Order: sequence, then C-alpha cells, then structure tokens
Amino acid sequence: MCGIVGYTGQRMAEDILLDGLRRLEYRGYDSVGIAIASDGLKVFKDKGEMSKIEPTIPRWDGSMGIGHTRWATCGKPSKENAHPFVDCTGRIALVHNGIIENHLALRKELEDEGHVFTSETDTEVLVHLMERYYEGDAHAALVAALAKVKGTYAVAAMVEGDDRIVAARKENPLVIGMGVGENMVASDVTAVLSLTSRVLYIMEGESVIVTAGGVTIFDRHGSRVERQPTTVTWTLEDAEKGGFEHYMLKEIYEQPTAIHNCLLGSLDEIDSGAVMPDIDLSTVKLVACGTSYNAAMVGKYIIESMARLPTTVELASEYRYSPGTGESPLTVLVTQSGETADTLAAAREARQRGCRTLAITNVVGSTISRETDHVFYTNAGPEIGVAATKTYITQLISMYLLGLRLGTMRQTLDRTEVRHLSTELRTMPRHVSGVLDRASEIEKAVDMLVPARDIFYLGRNINYPTMLEGALKLKEISYIHAEGYAAGELKHGPLALLDASTPVVAAAVNDHTRDKMLGNISEVAARDSPVLGIGVEGDRELAAIVDAMIGIPKVPSILSPVPLTVVLQLIAYYVARKKGCSIDKPRNLAKSVTVE
Ligand code: G6P
Repeated sequence: MCGIVGYTGQRMAEDILLDGLRRLEYRGYDSVGIAIASDGLKVFKDKGEMSKIEPTIPRWDGSMGIGHTRWATCGKPSKENAHPFVDCTGRIALVHNGIIENHLALRKELEDEGHVFTSETDTEVLVHLMERYYEGDAHAALVAALAKVKGTYAVAAMVEGDDRIVAARKENPLVIGMGVGENMVASDVTAVLSLTSRVLYIMEGESVIVTAGGVTIFDRHGSRVERQPTTVTWTLEDAEKGGFEHYMLKEIYEQPTAIHNCLLGSLDEIDSGAVMPDIDLSTVKLVACGTSYNAAMVGKYIIESMARLPTTVELASEYRYSPGTGESPLTVLVTQSGETADTLAAAREARQRGCRTLAITNVVGSTISRETDHVFYTNAGPEIGVAATKTYITQLISMYLLGLRLGTMRQTLDRTEVRHLSTELRTMPRHVSGVLDRASEIEKAVDMLVPARDIFYLGRNINYPTMLEGALKLKEISYIHAEGYAAGELKHGPLALLDASTPVVAAAVNDHTRDKMLGNISEVAARDSPVLGIGVEGDRELAAIVDAMIGIPKVPSILSPVPLTVVLQLIAYYVARKKGCSIDKPRNLAKSVTVE
C-alpha cells in the first residue's frame, strides 16, 4: 500500500502535495517523493519518514505536480526505489500504488530496447512503457502501457510541457478532488480534503485526465463516463480511517485485498520454485512471537498435512535460549514487523546452528529480511492497529503457499491437488468478504461475552491454534481474560472452572473432528456455560446445542482458519467496542517489540 497524490491549479503545487503526503503517510512511510512541472520536470525523492525528509526538499515554483509516499513491496526502501520514476528522456514522471506481476519479463523486454532502469522496483517498467508509447498524448500512452501489465495499480503520471495529469486504477483506490480552477488526484480523500470536499470516485478499470479546469473519465473501453461529484462529510481524521471508527476495523475490512495481494504472483510461481528456493530438507521449525506464533502453529498443521514434513513450532524467546539438538531444520521466522528482538535473536541463533533461514514478514527491508537466507513478503500493507489482523491473515496465506511449495517439491501433493488447493485459495478473498457482510450479526451475538471475566476458546485440529489467536485478540483489546484450549484437553482442568458466568466460544467446522467438538460443546453446555458456536453455515446440529451460532462459509477444512479468524477478530473488536476500550492502542502493548 502506498499513497499517491497529484495537483494541478493556480497555487504552488508543492505545498499542496506535501500537505497531501503528510495525510497519506498511514498508507506507507518508508520513502517520499515529488515531481513538479517547474521550468522542466523537477524531481526529489528520498528514503525515510515525511517529517524527516520534508525540511530537505527544495522549493520549486510550479502549479502542477505528483507525489508519493511508499510502503515497499518490490525493492527495499531506498532513494533509488522511491517514486516518482522518470523515463529515459527525463520528461515523463509517474507514481504507482499496487503490484506489477509481470515486471521482470517487461523489464527484460524494455532493457533489450535500450531503456535504462535505475531501481529494483516493479513500478519502473510503467514509466518506460509510457515512454515507448508516448506520441504526444499522455493519456493514450498510459492506457497503452497499462494494457501490457498484469497486476494491480492506482497510477498517476505527467509529461513535461503537457498540462494534464493522467491516472488510472485497477484494484487500488483513486479519487479526484474537485476544486474551483484546481483539481487533485489521490489514493484517498484524506489527501484532498484540505482543498475540497467535492470528490469523484474513479471506478475499477477507469482512467482519467485531470486539468486545472476539468476532469474527464474514461471506462476500460475508452468511452467517456459522466459522473457527478459527491460531497464528503468526513473530518480529516475520519478520512484517514476510511470512514471506519478504528484502524483495527478498517484493517479487518482490508483483508480480502490483503489476501489477494499476498497471493498475487505467488501461486503461479509455486511450480517455478520462486516462492521458496529449492533446498534439501527433512524437518521444518517455525519460530515466532505473539500473534505470529499462532500463525506458525497453524502453519505446522498445514505443512505436515500438505508436505508430510515433521514440523515444530517454538516461541522465539524460548528458542534463543534452548540447547539445540544438533539438527539443522529449515527455520522459518514469522514476524509481521521484522523487528521483534526475540525473533531477530532466534534468526541469528538458527544461523549459528547451521540452519537455512526463511523470514516471513510484512516489512520490506526490515532487519529480519537482511539477516535470513530467504524472505517471503506477506504484502498486507501497513498496519496501524496494535492488534494484528490483516498481517495475521496474510501470514496464514503464506503458510498455505509454503505448504503448497514444499508439498510440490516433495511430491506429496500431485498436480490435481495443487490445482484444487490453489483454486480454493483464490476464493479466500470472496469468502472473507462474505464473513464481513455478516458483521452486524456478530456484533449482536457478542452481547453474551461482554460481561464476562473469563472466556474459554475451544477448537481442535487446525482450529485449535486458530482459537488461540481468537483468545489472544480478545485479551489484547478487551482486557477480558481469555484462554484458547484444545477441546480434548477440557476434561484435564478447565472443566473445573466452567459455570454460567464463564462463556465459551467454540469452533466446530466440517472436518474429521467435528463430531468430537459437538461432544465437547455438550459437556460445556451441561456445566451451564453460555456457548457461542462457530460452524459451517446451515449446521443445524451445532445450532441446536449452542446459545448463539455464527456461520462461516463451507471451504475445504484445511482452509477454514481463514474465515474463522475473521469471525474471531470481529468478536474481539465488538466486545472491546461495547466495553469502550482503546482498541487501536491497547494499554501496555506495542506494535513492534524491539526489546527483549
Ligand atoms: C507485539 C504485537 C503483536 C505481535 C508481536 C510479534 O506483541 O503487539 O501484535 O504479534 O509483537 O510481532 P511480530 O512483528 O514479530 O509479528
């Protein structure tokens, strides 16, 4: 996720762009750049946060320009990889938010034609493609360039000597702010609100020409689209959260896109081996902290089931002080931030022990990515809420990708199974959206949990760790003591604690443990504990034995952690909201824990 902004009008463009970029920083903050039409094209870009870079930006006159704040996905955060990118003639500047999947092939083609690249990014191919097609019409060149591209984008570009900003979108947001004698283009309304509250939303597949005096929208076939602007009533703060009350809820709703971005390209590459390099291995060890540890626990089930590889999971804070066994498993460090002190120490320890290391992280260029042999990026975009949501779901997706890759390598999955699982994985964004559509039902169902002091979360098999994550989410933001338990262990302790004041959240999906789960739920109900059941839509047997039931879509049971997780996130969110807790910044917790 990155932020893009453009301005054309009568005022000094630079002031407006910098203001917009400051407001877009929540979309990405590892580098910043602007291009201004000012007696030729002037470009400045650098690595770092806006507040640090802003004082170093030269002042240029000029009433048209584009700007960008980056969240690295392809190519580490650096000055060279920052946007805007400029073509070889120095006349075209371009900013982009999204992922160009076929950039390597396009880059090769363009280099063969003589184009010189200056960065490692996927985006840079776009500006060279525009150069290839530019014959005096920036819009035509952009449309022709985008026709060559596989992937997602919100893109804005300008050409020296042309008074138009041209832009387009595919699966990434783009809005136009309509002023009087001045207009803006941006990733979202946050960036335009200081100029105007009249906005035009650009729709999927559309492109647009923006001048100081007007805006022309075209559909994917090149026909003009007439659309009236809408008036936004949000405050700036509301707008940053996209109209959601909290970042956490916004990020929960961003999960279909996050999953899509995490899968982009990777599934196709399973066969080619690019997702995970070929290595000889006989065991896997997953090491992580907090929420990432729960993703690793789910990963164990996935890898053992798909690749039949013995897999162990360890807390990073334990692993780093453990004696070691003399074996050298592939050691996978799972960390959304890539900066957690214990996980970094574990990575170093693993290398000391002679293990191959793979980091799964959301932050390109993070410390872990520099200290491991291989890296896989989850591509969830920046997460502001302390409680991890979209980074967790993409960690799960990464585990499926790893399982598929290892299963393919070891031939424990045949082609048909790989194809089937890949197809099902691609449906996950749709199933997650289906769960999100039922948020109001979940909001009502949590009333039975709000007064509780203690809550048990029960699951079995792959959804035992999923329930650990559900309990952790609730603890983090609602301050209710919640404990995840393998349902089979109930009789070995927790049953003694159950009574009418201790609710239970129980998951029973369509796998081989469902009937056992129903048995466990009945045991719980017999102790008067109120039960909130989560199961496959239409499971009447489950509905009959619980006090309230939330349905999830029927998916292959190995994939059930994905929709189930979203239900659990919403449960935690609504309980915390009903209790009036500080959801985005829970007491005593930090997003990234860089101390031991
Ligand atoms: C903190 C965060 C958690 C996170 C954990 C591990 O405790 O609040 O959300 O799961 O650190 O972080 P990592 O960046 O390594 O995934």
